[in-house]
Amino acid sequence: MAEKSVPNMRHYGRQLFICNHGDCAPAEHAERLHRLVLERNRQQELNKLRNPHRIKCTLADCLGVCQGGPIVVVYPDGTWYHGVDEAGLERIYREHLVGGKPVEELIFHRHFPEGKEPAYAPQVRGDEELAPPPWEPLKKAEELQLESEDRAGEEAQLRRLAARRTRKKKGLVIVNTGEGKGKTTAALGLLTRAWGRRMKVGVIQFLKHENARFGEIRAAERMGEIDWISSGDGWTWTSGDLDETAARARHTWTVCQERILNGGYDVLILDEFTYPLHYGWLDGNEVLAWLEANKPPMMHLVITGRYASRNLIDFADLVTEMRPIKHPFEEQGIRAQPGIEF
Ligand code: FES
Repeated sequence: MAEKSVPNMRHYGRQLFICNHGDCAPAEHAERLHRLVLERNRQQELNKLRNPHRIKCTLADCLGVCQGGPIVVVYPDGTWYHGVDEAGLERIYREHLVGGKPVEELIFHRHFPEGKEPAYAPQVRGDEELAPPPWEPLKKAEELQLESEDRAGEEAQLRRLAARRTRKKKGLVIVNTGEGKGKTTAALGLLTRAWGRRMKVGVIQFLKHENARFGEIRAAERMGEIDWISSGDGWTWTSGDLDETAARARHTWTVCQERILNGGYDVLILDEFTYPLHYGWLDGNEVLAWLEANKPPMMHLVITGRYASRNLIDFADLVTEMRPIKHPFEEQGIRAQPGIEF
């Protein structure tokens, strides 16, 4: 068997994390600090991979503080700095990263008690002889002339960072399926959350009887501002008149199409919509193609019901399967109760 070559570790002395999540301080500020550290590393030759004092600087997602930023953390020391501006960064770089002495005025948290910080790696390894060159004063950001080959790499990195920072949003297609209870209940929980956010919400129920007075319908009336359409015939698993049920489902789908196009909803629930698809009362491919072409990009569409098809699952952004584990009727013969089941 061929012998595996063992990879070499590239030394570094300290690592700097700068939060660019954006809540503790503008992400652009963090990126400016990051560029300054990279530039300073070049000036001080602390970017050389073989230099045991090499300083790694990493833009990090939220560091769990979310206020008073920019937040900068130095490892392995576990020193947390806040409110770091360019001048503060210069001090941290010069006094702490190069000089080994933390900048007390800017520290707000020490991960380790003072004096108990983990040892600086080059000291432990005994390879300190490659000391950093003498300190040069910090240039102003606008004076920094990045070398052209570095600039290309840096710009690519910034593009990646910008893409990561984009808080992408879209209207989701959410499917609650499976044999267990709670598919509609979960959808209504989500609807309540959206209603609480003053979003425009609606429910279209496919099979529930148009005159049904379930608890959730009463709740929607009391809450107000919730469009609720029930246009089924109260179909059950043993329903006799499937033609009537199928015809109502097809009609309800035309209602859905109209509401999706013109209702202006932020969240729309299509309750028990999987059944007309499963039983072939509607053509699943046509329905999905229509949704693909017509669903407003920011509308969240929630579809409930058993037997979600593979195509629907592939089409959806979020799919949850409810799985029965224990049921009061199965185990104890307790029938459906108001406020719990309806
Ligand atoms: S957003 Fe910066 S620490 Fe959380």
